[in-house]
Amino acid sequence: EEFFNAKKTLAGKTVLITAGPTHEQIDPVRFIGNHSSGKMGFAIAEEAAKRGAKVILISGPSAENTNHENIAVYRVKSAKEMFSKVFEFYEHVDIAIASAAVADYAPKDIASEKIKKKEDFLTLELVKNPDILKTMGERKRNQFLVGFALETENEEENAKVKLLKKNLDMIVLNSLRDKGAGFQGTTNKIKILTSDSLLEFSLKSKKEVAKDLLNFVEKQLVK
Ligand code: CTP
Ligand code: CA
Repeated sequence: EEFFNAKKTLAGKTVLITAGPTHEQIDPVRFIGNHSSGKMGFAIAEEAAKRGAKVILISGPSAENTNHENIAVYRVKSAKEMFSKVFEFYEHVDIAIASAAVADYAPKDIASEKIKKKEDFLTLELVKNPDILKTMGERKRNQFLVGFALETENEEENAKVKLLKKNLDMIVLNSLRDKGAGFQGTTNKIKILTSDSLLEFSLKSKKEVAKDLLNFVEKQLVK
């Protein structure tokens, strides 16, 4: 396949991608997580590598795998671990794509022993996790920065607000309203927003979505 598609349009570029969910430890046997599969992030990583990029893929717990020689995979669990790993590399990358479904909150304390069942109600105290993408935006120099947004209401407005607040160059909106879209399945339906454009794509496989996304990034890079 690569033989027939040998246009190395991202040769010389380093791309950092976050993928998958994060797991926030509650006690030695439990965590708070979400249903993100990591498929979208791994598909983007594969496509970027095919196009000749050097890829740093930082993934939360995911069953996905890759053996492309240009992809270095770093597996992390929590948002804090993802944050640390991202900023080991961020300074040196050309493009950063945040497709991870990072948990917004984590338990304030991790119980050292398994929490025993007692009363009818149990309260867990949670604290906000660091916003990895927002921090990338704050520390942005020449990086081209891509975020994702998962919205269930006022989708375009909310995505636009995230684009501005996190200092992104573009944001990929996936709507949970669209059947077949979102972070669990193998298909996705996206809209790409920049500060002055909105492009809507049809429902397709995550591999095809990765191509659309990187085509768009490449066009923005030469602008
Ligand atoms: N993100 C991140 N670190 C976080 C939270 C989110 O890097 N702690 C990134 C995601 O990878 C995604 C983007 O920020 O690219 C938007 O994530 P989303 O959950 O849609 O937005 P939030 O800013 O967390 O706001 P909310 O969940 O309240 O909509
Ligand atoms: Ca969130």
